[in-house]
Order: sequence, then structure tokens, then C-alpha cells
Amino acid sequence: MDIGIDQIGFYTPNKFVDMVDLANARNQDPNKFLIGIGQDRMAVADKTQDAVSMGINATAEYLDQVDLEQLGLLIFATESGIDQSKSASLFVKEALNLPARIRTFEIKEACFALTASLQVARDYVRAHPHHSAMIIGSDIARYGLATAGEVTQGAGAISMLIKENPAIIALEEGHTSHSENINDFWRPNNLATAVVDGHYSRDVYLDFFKSTFKPFLAEKQLQVSDFAGICYHLPYTKMGYKAHKIAIEGQDDETVKRLSDNFQLSAKYSRQVGNIYTASLYMSVLSLLENGDLEAGDRIGFFSYGSGAMAEFFSGKVVAGYQKRLRPALHARMLKERIRLGVGQYEDIFTEGLEALPENVEFTSDANHGTWYLAGQEGYVRQYKQK
Ligand code: HMG
Repeated sequence: MDIGIDQIGFYTPNKFVDMVDLANARNQDPNKFLIGIGQDRMAVADKTQDAVSMGINATAEYLDQVDLEQLGLLIFATESGIDQSKSASLFVKEALNLPARIRTFEIKEACFALTASLQVARDYVRAHPHHSAMIIGSDIARYGLATAGEVTQGAGAISMLIKENPAIIALEEGHTSHSENINDFWRPNNLATAVVDGHYSRDVYLDFFKSTFKPFLAEKQLQVSDFAGICYHLPYTKMGYKAHKIAIEGQDDETVKRLSDNFQLSAKYSRQVGNIYTASLYMSVLSLLENGDLEAGDRIGFFSYGSGAMAEFFSGKVVAGYQKRLRPALHARMLKERIRLGVGQYEDIFTEGLEALPENVEFTSDANHGTWYLAGQEGYVRQYKQK
């Protein structure tokens, strides 16, 4: 029985900062950001978008096509949690009127958490063949104003439906994992921004890629040329490009060209949005599917990395007719119609986003009609509304 991705919803907030504007404001050569880091824009979440509202928006995109009778599991992956106890998924469940009988919880291991959710969901469907699982990854990446990490921020969410006989990607059996307790990136409870050892994190990412990619090929008896494309966790696109260069080392011209072209297509959304932590790998997959030209049966590799650190490599095959399940025009419009912030405006929004919400507060949203947003807090209970 094939199990895999049957729906993918994507959301990113309606504001961005242009990398040339940011470079000028920080007295940096714009090419450092555009080429050295590989980013064009970064999404900015104002106070009306948090992990929950973005997760609701990504899921709402495909909800009308879900058979709710079959839905048995909802997992929310985030490192931008809004509560130390209660799962973000319960807010999603209420907003979207999902059935009360589903099992639901939140899960964490930095950017790896959506892959953890995917594997749990796959096992769930394997054990309950006629049931489906919904998994959401949603985050706001915050490093701080004028820090080295600032250019690698972003905000957004991906939501996926996992079921048997999937319409988009059928996951293949097998995976290779690697974990170590290291301090490359983390966010202690008393800090609103991440602590990061940037150059060390870059080296560990590549070490973990080497520890999972070649062993995966050996275990599955595959060649690099067996892949139509490989998608990477993209904290910034140059990071994935460094892993891509390792993958294509010593390959024939045709393989190098195919994997390189498809890498650029997989990085297209990330260049516009930035790091969305848990969902970044899956935004790369969506970007390749919506901007590329894959054929039924093409194999895609998935490299998932979460700081701390945990990595996994696995694969899936594109399903015939997958194009009909995608919404490239909607996503192109969402990215195109965003508001370009001046750096001063972005700094104000960023600083406001670090403050804890008071017990009672009300927000209005400037998002498009139909968008879910954080409308404030009442007695420390977050309120979500639809515009
Ligand atoms: P930095 O120190 O400002 O940058 O920080 P740099 O000096 O290393 O330069 C970056 C690149 O720009 C270099 O290229 C330069 O040569 C180039 P590279 O050597 O890497 O190929 N450059 C130029 N290129 C063209 N024209 C120029 C120019 N000047 C320089 N004029 C750093 C960069 C990524 C370290 C920083 O932004 C950072 O700390 N970011 C956050 C950490 C991060 O994203 N780490 C990635 C791996 S960890 C991960 O993926 C997990 C994560 O997503 C969290 C999670 O799991 O939850 C982060």
C-alpha cells in the first residue's frame, strides 16, 4: 500500500523585507545577501500572525477536499510555540471545526519536527489504512536586529494531509537518521530570539548530510543518478546549495544538470520567504513540484535537518496527475501581493513581536479577506478570527 502526501497547503504573511534594502541599512554589500546567503526577500510576521494562525491558514487552503470522517490524527510541529502546556493544534482544530474524536498534539525537535510528524503520520496510516493524518509545520524565525542571522529570518507554514493512495508523493520505505546532542542553535525559555553558533551550525548541517545521504544510498542500493531531484532543509538557500554540491560530486553531466536545475527550482520559494524552520524542507518540495516539470514515478530525495541536532534522509516518488492537486497560481499571487516594508517599519514590527502579550488586548488585521489572524488575547487566552 502506498502512503504519502495527498495535499499540501502553504501560507506566508503579507509583508516582506527586500534583501537589498536590508543590506544597505546594515552597511553590507547586497551581493553578500543575494549571492553569499542566497536570499532575495524575507517574510515578516506582524503581531497578528503567529504559529497557530499561519498553521490554520495553510490548512484552510485544502480543507474543503478532506474527508473528515477519515481524519484520525492532527500533529502540529513548531519551535515558535505559544504555550508551554497546551498544544497549538487544539486552536487549529477549533478554528477549522475538525472532529472532536481525533488524536492531536504538538511536537518539537527544531526544524526536524515536521519530518518527525510525517513519519509518525505514515506509521499511523500504516496501522489504520483507511484513516488519514494532518500534519502542520509553522514558525517565525527570529535572530535579532543587525545580527549575522538576521538575513536568514522568515515566517510561514506548510500543512499536509498524509493518507493511503496519495495524490502527490508516495513515500518509499526506509530512511537513515543521525542524532547528536550539540549546541549549534537553540532557544532557551527566557529568550524570544535564537542563540546560534552560525558557522558551526553550517558545518554540522553538512556533516549530518554526509552521515545520512551516502548510508541511505548504500542501504537502498541506489545511485545519485536515480534521483530526479533532492530537496533540502533550507535555512537559507546557500546552505542547501552546499549540501547539493556534495551530492553531485563526481556525477555524470546529465545527473549534475538535472539535480542542479531542480535544486534551483526547489529553492525558489525559500529565496522569497526565508527560513520557516519546521516547514522549510516541505516548502522546498512544494517549490520544486509547482515550478518544475517532474514526471510520474520521478524519485525525490528529502534531507531534513533540525539543530540540536537530528537529521534524516528519505525518499518518495511523484504520483501521476500530481499537478492537479497543486495551487501554483494561488501561491504566486500570495508572494506577489505582499507589502514591501521599509527597514524601519520591519524593525518596529520585529521589536513589537518580541514582547509578551498583555492579559487583555485586541488586534485588527490588514490581511486579505478570508485570512485567519491573531485577534488578541482575553484573560491570557489567544483569540483567532477570520478576516
Ligand atoms: P556571516 O558570518 O555574516 O556570513 O553569517 P559569512 O561571512 O559566513 O558569509 C556568508 C557567505 O557570503 C560566504 O559564502 C561568503 O563568502 C559570502 P560561503 O563561504 O558560505 O560560500 N559573501 C559574499 N558573496 C558574494 N558577494 C559578497 C560576499 N560577502 C560574503 N560581497 C550565517 C552567515 C549563515 C552563519 C548567519 O547568517 C547565521 O548564523 N544564520 C543562522 C544560522 C543558520 O541558518 N545555520 C544554518 C545551519 S543550522 C540549520 O539549518 C537549523 C536551523 O534552521 C534551525 C532549526 O533547526 O530549527 C537554523
